[in-house]
Amino acid sequence: MAESKINLYYKNVTAEIIGTEHGITTEQLDNIAEETTPIITQINTERKDGKTPYRDLPYKKETVEQVKELAEQLKDKCENLVVLGIGGSALGNIALQTALNPFMHNLDQNQRPGPRLFVLDNVDPDQLSSFLDWVVDKLDKTIFNVISKSGRTAETASQFLIIRKLLIDTLGPENLKNQIVATTDPKQGTLRNIADDLKLKTLEVPDGVGGRFSVLSAVGLFSAAMCGIDIDQLLAGAADMDKRVSSEDFFKNPAAINAAINYHYYNRDKKISVMMPYSYALKDLSDWYRQLWAESLGKTKDLSGNVVNVGPTPVKALGTTDQHSQVQLYREGPNDKLYTFLQVKNPNTKLEIGPAPENAPELAFLAGSELGNLLNSEKTATEFALLKDKRPCLTVLFDKVNPYTIGQFIYLYEVTTSFAGAMFNINTYDQPAVELGKDATFALMGKDGYEQLAKQIQPVTKIEDKFLV
Ligand code: PA5
Repeated sequence: MAESKINLYYKNVTAEIIGTEHGITTEQLDNIAEETTPIITQINTERKDGKTPYRDLPYKKETVEQVKELAEQLKDKCENLVVLGIGGSALGNIALQTALNPFMHNLDQNQRPGPRLFVLDNVDPDQLSSFLDWVVDKLDKTIFNVISKSGRTAETASQFLIIRKLLIDTLGPENLKNQIVATTDPKQGTLRNIADDLKLKTLEVPDGVGGRFSVLSAVGLFSAAMCGIDIDQLLAGAADMDKRVSSEDFFKNPAAINAAINYHYYNRDKKISVMMPYSYALKDLSDWYRQLWAESLGKTKDLSGNVVNVGPTPVKALGTTDQHSQVQLYREGPNDKLYTFLQVKNPNTKLEIGPAPENAPELAFLAGSELGNLLNSEKTATEFALLKDKRPCLTVLFDKVNPYTIGQFIYLYEVTTSFAGAMFNINTYDQPAVELGKDATFALMGKDGYEQLAKQIQPVTKIEDKFLV
């Protein structure tokens, strides 16, 4: 497994392929390399100075032991694992599960090495009630992993309060500690207080690691380990990528090249970044990437306090599904996007297409081919079509999808984000705009101390009839 790699392929952004108007010339690439080299040093120095603690997650042996021990302890009694969390406390868990466990994981016991997994990352009452109706008579075999770094997120807190009541009413208060694992700040916050008070089993969101950079901590590792994913290989893949993205040689550093190409296009009217996996397993990694890219890079001010309002817009698409939905726009609409395909050289499964019926000889060209071959041919075909229209395309090429390559991918994109943030000269790691939305929710829900904010929101909450059509 350890030999599998991912690589970034960037020939299809070059002028040689898509011309000088939209492509990058050799001279431009050399300039980009020169400009980026000091940023590589800066990112490496920030890492050494402890400013980016997410970089050290692949080496946290203690966390891995703790996660494995807890998973071992709970696995036998657990038929359903339910993650309560949102944003960085959910998207990584979903991405790992989709990538590394079979499509029918939750439905087919034979395809499931551990419990079913449900990640409830919303507060839609219809959705949650439907789930609660299903789970209510299985609570003693269900573990709820509530994940919130701050503990103050209204969505996760309200889900938790609903589940807490359900557990108390059904199994009795003394059983809360058997059914809940809290993943939160090691020392402070509402969830930490509740967990300590109820003597819940806990795991830690490490200090200085923001939600969207936390998938390789206990946040993502616990549900992965419970569901049979090899977390050692996941972290080994990330550590492998760590070496590559630390290289001071621009042309050997995939994160530096990835960020620099994205930055180059952002400054040339291609502010939209489409990630399009040609693999169902990789589909939720683009959701995870969307948050990472958007929350980290969408910022009002630069580090000197100038108003810059920067941020590429990440868009997710899925091949081949979205060929029949988005590609018309991608080819003939404005040339304002950079495309990143995710492609798997060797799909884990070989599935042969059946023979064509006699009365449909026009389907004979498909017969006997492998479905994975069709999927990859469609990727190449779509890329070819986009290149014809001078659209720049990158590909992240996976030898295979396995925990090792997924670990590499996660680490590659986290560090790419750090590079891009440095290029934009912004704070990559805060999310002040999300915080205002959280506060406004508190105000609307009547939390003490938010009365002034509630007043400010009033003009928005009042629906005026004259504008209803
Ligand atoms: O990346 C982030 O910091 C956010 O998306 C958070 O993960 C999200 O808002 C949930 O926050 P918390 O884990 O504090 O409940």
